[in-house]
Amino acid sequence: MTSESSAEPSTELTSESPSEIPSTAVDYSSTYSAAKDVDPKDLAELINFLPCETPDQWVEVALQRQDILLINHAYLEKCAARTALNLMFAYPDKPELQRKMSRLAREELVHFEQVIKIINKRGMTYRGLKPSRYAGLLNKEVRKASDEKLIDYLIIGALIEARSCERFAKLAPHLDAELAKFYTSLLRSEARHYKDYLTLAQSYSKTSIDDRIAFFQEIEREAIESEDDQFRFHSGVPSDYLKRG
Ligand SMILES: [Fe+2]
Ligand SMILES: [Fe+2]
Repeated sequence: MTSESSAEPSTELTSESPSEIPSTAVDYSSTYSAAKDVDPKDLAELINFLPCETPDQWVEVALQRQDILLINHAYLEKCAARTALNLMFAYPDKPELQRKMSRLAREELVHFEQVIKIINKRGMTYRGLKPSRYAGLLNKEVRKASDEKLIDYLIIGALIEARSCERFAKLAPHLDAELAKFYTSLLRSEARHYKDYLTLAQSYSKTSIDDRIAFFQEIEREAIESEDDQFRFHSGVPSDYLKRG
């Protein structure tokens, strides 16, 4: 999925240039034990792309606030589809982007319908929630020129997809059987979305995008590791939880 807030093109993905992503021999199977459906190499790449791991305290809050988790998750799937469509309308002359974003938008809407089904089954009602700060912090740094704007949105999309995937994998071992199965099933497509976004970003830049990736990674790290004023799927650890000790 992608992220909340604006109707701006934001994003998700995976990379076709594995050499640009540090490989690792670390075994993630204990922390991310739900990720059996994903190639361990793909998961390792994705986690290495992220600047930090989700704090354990965020997982503790998420388990206590599963209603907010699910309602916000449904919203984010819808945002992910919107982002893909926005990119398709903004850059009609890029066939690979059209192809990848069209498929991605369809998949995100299926995810949206799946989350809504679980929400309804559990007796909850989908409603609007105040968006988290996460996407806004990233999107406000996007450059203005069309070519640069595209690269930035694609990099942001890669980060958002990777973070979503990492959180699904981190949550799944602690969830009930139905939700664990669903979140595990999402891993494969979200890992591919991450790769698609990153691959597109690299393919549309004449120069290395490493510095730009590093720039957005630091913003993402701050959003994940710093205290947040509310709990959301992409939030930091909420301050009310920290105060409670
Ligand atoms: Fe996605
Ligand atoms: Fe999704």
